[in-house]
Amino acid sequence: MLLHPKELSQNGRSFTEEDIGETRLFPQFRMDLRKFSEKEYNRFVTVNTVRDWSQLSWKQVGRPYEVRAQSNERRSWEQEQNREMDPHTAWTFFNKAFHEWFVKDVPSELDHSKKQFIKSLGSLKPAEIKHALGDVVRIQLWNYVHRIQDGIWDPRGKRALFEGLSLHKPKILFLGAAEGYEAMQLAAIYPRAHIVMVDYDEYCKTTRFAEFPGYYPFLGENPATGQPKVVYKDELNVDYIVDDIRNLDFGKDFDVVLSVGLLEHFPDAYKPEVCDWHRKFLKSGGYAILTTPRNQIRSRLYYKIMADVMNHTYRELMTVEQMGLYLYENGFDIKRHGYIKVHNGIVCQPR
Ligand SMILES: C[S@@+](CC[C@H](N)C(=O)[O-])C[C@H]1O[C@@H](n2cnc3c(N)ncnc32)[C@H](O)[C@@H]1O
Repeated sequence: MLLHPKELSQNGRSFTEEDIGETRLFPQFRMDLRKFSEKEYNRFVTVNTVRDWSQLSWKQVGRPYEVRAQSNERRSWEQEQNREMDPHTAWTFFNKAFHEWFVKDVPSELDHSKKQFIKSLGSLKPAEIKHALGDVVRIQLWNYVHRIQDGIWDPRGKRALFEGLSLHKPKILFLGAAEGYEAMQLAAIYPRAHIVMVDYDEYCKTTRFAEFPGYYPFLGENPATGQPKVVYKDELNVDYIVDDIRNLDFGKDFDVVLSVGLLEHFPDAYKPEVCDWHRKFLKSGGYAILTTPRNQIRSRLYYKIMADVMNHTYRELMTVEQMGLYLYENGFDIKRHGYIKVHNGIVCQPR
């Protein structure tokens, strides 16, 4: 279950406009209502390194890096079933494993894992010591990446990527929504948005999204005044559909089609289809917004150390140039591209 820090009120509205500019560390995550100045901008998002996408070739940019380390859960499932795990099953394992980390009380788990490690030394059994040390390393890494750095949710980076678009009461479609974080951040910035989240893993609706903390403050905008406002999950207009993206039968109804960590899970043969998912439900003038994990040494290390949590599915790490080239070749004009802490981000429109 999600913790409810004692100092926060139970009604889930613990922060007000007076807290804007503040950041605080909770046992499970960081709350970050800091804005940043134009000067600081490059610390959070580095944008628009490519001037003319038509001049870029695969020879110049190279191919994405494929993460090969797989979770133990996947390996034993495949041995037992004597077949390759299908993507839908793989996602159900992933979502469960990932959610278990978001709800950890990190400081107390850090403490516990260190004690267990010291205890294991007394056993003089190398396997036990190795296992206990692995637990210490993983929780330390999670603490740093998710809690200290806030690299997974990265609200400042995401706001920098989303801001300044021509959107008024937008209809937002979030493909592969999981807990829905980015659509909520986007909707906080563009008031009176209607979000449609889609994920074929029911657990995402019933647990990942349902248990996303109601007291988490999103920095958004007050529609009445245009001034910054603290926005909570229950103030947002969200429909959550549990279905395969391939079954959706919307028309061109959406101002934004969003995905976060979807494209990189499909080998090249499927990428045109995935790009098409981002185009077919967009209104004319609408934006497709995508992010994918960056190919950087620390990310490669993260996916190796956290393999049991993260690696149930096919996964690539790519550069923003590679990501942009997939989208450009599949009929999108790139409007904004860059990278934030651990992801690349692109805002694009169908050509
Ligand atoms: C890597 S996750 C997105 C990352 C997310 N921000 C998180 O925290 O887990 C991708 C999501 O897409 C969903 N998904 C993948 N293929 C899908 C499909 N064909 N239809 C619907 N959902 C899909 C998975 O169930 C998973 O929850």
